[in-house]
Amino acid sequence: MLSGRMVEAYSDFEAWLHDFFVAERALNLHRYIFQETKLSDVFAEKKERRVLDVGCGGGQAAIWLKGLYPHLEMTGIDLSEPQIERARVRARQKGCAVQFEVANAQALPFPDGHFDIVYSLGSVKHWPNPLQGVSECWRVLKPGGELLLMDSTSDATHEQIVSFYRIAGFPKLLERPVVAAITRIIFRASRPMAVYRDVADQLKMPPGTVGFAPELPSFLFRTRKP
Ligand SMILES: C[S@@+](CC[C@H](N)C(=O)[O-])C[C@H]1O[C@@H](n2cnc3c(N)ncnc32)[C@H](O)[C@@H]1O
Repeated sequence: MLSGRMVEAYSDFEAWLHDFFVAERALNLHRYIFQETKLSDVFAEKKERRVLDVGCGGGQAAIWLKGLYPHLEMTGIDLSEPQIERARVRARQKGCAVQFEVANAQALPFPDGHFDIVYSLGSVKHWPNPLQGVSECWRVLKPGGELLLMDSTSDATHEQIVSFYRIAGFPKLLERPVVAAITRIIFRASRPMAVYRDVADQLKMPPGTVGFAPELPSFLFRTRKP
């Protein structure tokens, strides 16, 4: 990823960098988007629900959600073994019952219709075949279940990238150079929105499933499975 190319899995060093410097800030984006899309209202309903975080990294979001909503049965998967190991240690240290597994988004090891909520933040751009990965997320979702997938798109505007930086809460002092760097390394190296609209059409998702996430340089799949 640091080479400017989106790759399937993080190298161990990139995974560590994300875990150490980015993941806590990324939690602000999770909070923001769950509120904006009302998925936080769905989490808050006091029903037992199976939730899957696809490309969960070091597990920060899944652990945070389980802490807020203990009635959820949370599972996180990631292709990176060191990240899953860190997620397991983190969950153990917090006494938090979240299941973490090494797995590929493009071949999810779960039966059809297993989860009530499937979400993924910041991972889809790394999947070599987004149709295959999104189709797997759709397959493991129950009818009536909630889908939320979000990641960067090359169609992002400068204003959206600045807004992303601010919502994540990165230091103001570094805004100009970091926004310039991530524009080149992450956003321009991501896929255009049209790719994701085409994926949603091919999977016959409800109209309006894919659009820009509010105020963010990101595509968003947000729908309920019919
Ligand atoms: C930018 S990180 C996002 C981590 C986490 N979702 C967060 O918000 O902090 C992207 C993650 O996607 C994972 N990933 C990339 N390709 C994957 C795949 N095919 N299947 C599962 N995970 C994948 C990477 O290993 C990495 O941990």
